[in-house]
Amino acid sequence: MHIVHVAVEMAPIAKVGGLGDVVTSLSRAVQDLGHNVDIILPKYDCMNVNHVRDLHFHRGFHCGGTEIKVWLGKVEGLTVYFLEPQNGMFWMRCIYGGKNDGERFGLFCHAALEFLLQSGFHPDILHCHDWSSAPVAWLFKEQYMHYGLSKARVVFTIHNLEFGASNIRKAMTYADKATTVSRTYSKEVSGNPIISSHLHKFHGIVNGIDPDIWDPYNDSFIPISYTSENVIEGKGAAKEALQKRLGLRTSEHPLVGIISRLTVQKGIHLIKHAISRTLERGGQVVLLGSAPDPRIQNDFVNLANQLHSSHGDQVRFCLTYDEPLSHLIYAGSDFILVPSIFEPCGLTQLIAMRYGSIPVVRKTGGLYDTVFDADHDKERAQTLGLEPNGFSFDGADPAGVDYALNRALSAWYNGRDWFNSLCKRVMEQDWSWNRPALDYIELYYAARK
Ligand code: ADP
Ligand code: GLC
Repeated sequence: MHIVHVAVEMAPIAKVGGLGDVVTSLSRAVQDLGHNVDIILPKYDCMNVNHVRDLHFHRGFHCGGTEIKVWLGKVEGLTVYFLEPQNGMFWMRCIYGGKNDGERFGLFCHAALEFLLQSGFHPDILHCHDWSSAPVAWLFKEQYMHYGLSKARVVFTIHNLEFGASNIRKAMTYADKATTVSRTYSKEVSGNPIISSHLHKFHGIVNGIDPDIWDPYNDSFIPISYTSENVIEGKGAAKEALQKRLGLRTSEHPLVGIISRLTVQKGIHLIKHAISRTLERGGQVVLLGSAPDPRIQNDFVNLANQLHSSHGDQVRFCLTYDEPLSHLIYAGSDFILVPSIFEPCGLTQLIAMRYGSIPVVRKTGGLYDTVFDADHDKERAQTLGLEPNGFSFDGADPAGVDYALNRALSAWYNGRDWFNSLCKRVMEQDWSWNRPALDYIELYYAARK
């Protein structure tokens, strides 16, 4: 099959969150299974071109009253067509945040279809993502299907129902198949009017991570390579490097890492509570995050100033986006905290496990589907052939997060052998695309029937 993703994020060149990771890693997994996968992406001026190989001008055409230059390159082994409208709408040093984002991405979707048509491509599947490339669904069905791209079917993936409801509603109507990124989130949103009339074509497929991109055995951002065989040594070295780099005390403490967009979705009040509880219990905290909302960012700057002066050698906030540092935190933390209020899938808990860090999560969406509580979810894990792999809690109040965090920290303080075996065990679980990529391929075939 020939699958074309039309997307506005792609790791590592243009990533804001998990959408970027998924576009790259799902594409690589499906390509590895023998399919032909292309990606169409806007050419942003803020794009990290160091990760694009053989980037060269491919062709030009006109669409929406402007000239579109098309560039061709390879990213992580995938063929990517970069569309660069000459009206400059992707020259704003960031991916989102323009007053006219709807218009910018609308034109991009239009141009993507026009490019496919003019290039004589006949993809089997057009796969679009979230509100930003949702217009592909209706532009294709209302116009381009009749022009000559008629063979294609449209698959639409909702990564987060929070954003762009009107686009998402329309794409749900026009798509041949729709997915979201975990089974539990698909159930949680099934009563939403945007979804409820389309349940027959709506599927929850859990995300995976790319084990070659997130690989503690082959990661230039951590001090020593490790696998589950030398996880304690590997994580010990990473923890010390992290503590030294951030000026934290290097004596023995449990270290809780938080790597997150700082938005209401991610459970800000629970994050704050968990930080003070961890410090009270003698642990350390490293938070890497940035807030799109300046008020939330400011709030965290103030909290950082306060905590850096009261607990300077036990806590560090890095209020920025920093991919290399995220690798060191995944490797150097004992726990990764993800107390989201809702979470369609979540990748941080999966990456954490790949690096032998224990997830402490709120039971919602994909967090529920991938994290199995050490004390309470043995049977649920066993039905999937897994062992428990973390700590989790219900509710959205401090008592909930305390319940999970206290058990996690106690395991670190009082049951070190057991804790070490848990780190080894989570590293050995497979949260790659191995299985979910097959589900997508099955769905692509079903869309073509
Ligand atoms: P979401 O897409 O809702 O933000 P996910 O858990 O699906 O959440 O994906 C988040 C991705 O972004 C992960 O790859 C995580 O490591 C990364 N990430 C989040 N915040 C930062 C940051 N401040 N610096 C570096 N990487 C980050
Ligand atoms: C969204 C969701 C997150 C998911 C990611 C990738 O950003 O918030 O839960 O993991 O998309 O699908």
